Amino acid sequence: MLLLPFQLLAVLFPGGDSEDAFQGPTSFRVIQISSFANSTWAHNQGSGWLDDLQIQGWNSDSGTAIFLKPWSKGNISDEEVAELEELFQVYFFLFTQEIQGYASEFQLEYPFQIQGIAGCELHAGGSIVSFLRGALGGLDFLSFENDTCVPAPEGGIRSRIFCALIMQYKIAIYIVKKLLVEICPRYLLSVLYSGKAELQRQVKPEAWLSSGPSPGPGRLLLVCHVSGFYPKPVWVRWMLGEQEQPGIQHSDLLPNADWTWYLRATLDVAAGEAAGLSCRVKHSSLEGQDIILHWGEKELGPRLDVGGGGPQAERQALGKDGARQMKEGEG
Ligand SMILES: *[C@@H]1O[C@H](CO)[C@@H](O)[C@H](O)[C@H]1NC(C)=O
Ligand SMILES: *[C@@H]1O[C@H](CO)[C@@H](O)[C@H](O)[C@H]1NC(C)=O
Ligand SMILES: *[C@@H]1O[C@H](CO)[C@@H](O)[C@H](O)[C@H]1NC(C)=O
Repeated sequence: MLLLPFQLLAVLFPGGDSEDAFQGPTSFRVIQISSFANSTWAHNQGSGWLDDLQIQGWNSDSGTAIFLKPWSKGNISDEEVAELEELFQVYFFLFTQEIQGYASEFQLEYPFQIQGIAGCELHAGGSIVSFLRGALGGLDFLSFENDTCVPAPEGGIRSRIFCALIMQYKIAIYIVKKLLVEICPRYLLSVLYSGKAELQRQVKPEAWLSSGPSPGPGRLLLVCHVSGFYPKPVWVRWMLGEQEQPGIQHSDLLPNADWTWYLRATLDVAAGEAAGLSCRVKHSSLEGQDIILHWGEKELGPRLDVGGGGPQAERQALGKDGARQMKEGEG
């Protein structure tokens, strides 16, 4: 029983001891969003995620799971899927009923929203830790630790009473514990394995430059766009030669629809100081051949070169990005 997970870990972490080698997600979570419009109307949304990649949805009309990837089931059998679907149907029904029943006692004012997140996460060394947290109106409300409901400070007295109440649902707690501690880890390992090709793929970023809205008279906002890369970790800096420039603002990492990411790095500079600056991008897919885009020199076309001088990265940089920089740089 113990051996199998370790054999799997050897597959998931090629290179054995180095966890860095594993670039993909490490957690599975189910997210519940329940909206209560009034005393008679409620809607439950469910979804399943590997870190921030959605692999499952929930059809609340038919009460069935939607598997968004061919490998989303991991090694869970169709019978087990049907059992889990039934469990979630019952859960969503009872949850709605109980919340509506207690709404006035807990002075919950319509409309309100309840969010739940539950799942398990693979930690370095191979241990898997399960978690469950609930929020009310966007504020932490409760969590579970060692089978015990722990009220969140933000939830006040309401959280404490609610936790005491929940602890009386012994059978429900038993089922949730079984799902989190037995089924989730087994599923997580199997789905990380079945989706390995997609989860551990490497997709190179494209990068291009543009100027943003002027921050003030005589100043320029340099924008370096990096898009289409996977996995998520990326390093983007404005440089003067080998020197990192201070004051860089990074946007949030935004998802593209195709499971790749987008990031923007901006730098506010005096117009005269922009020449000579370059945007440098490091990403695991580039295998050390950083993308370097130089600001300006429009009349010659953008001067693009590549750290380490790889022909592959150079071709990529000169492709779409070069043309795009010229267009946007003029705008
Ligand atoms: C309850 O909310 C739903 C959805 O917003 C609405 O269609 C319905 O008319 C409301 N019912 C009452 C009794 O207010
Ligand atoms: C849960 O159990 C662990 C290990 O037994 C312990 O270290 C931790 O403090 C416990 N947490 C709570 C909230 O009881
Ligand atoms: C599914 O995969 C998990 C994790 O690798 C394993 O523990 C479990 O035995 C597998 N179940 C089946 C039915 O193959």
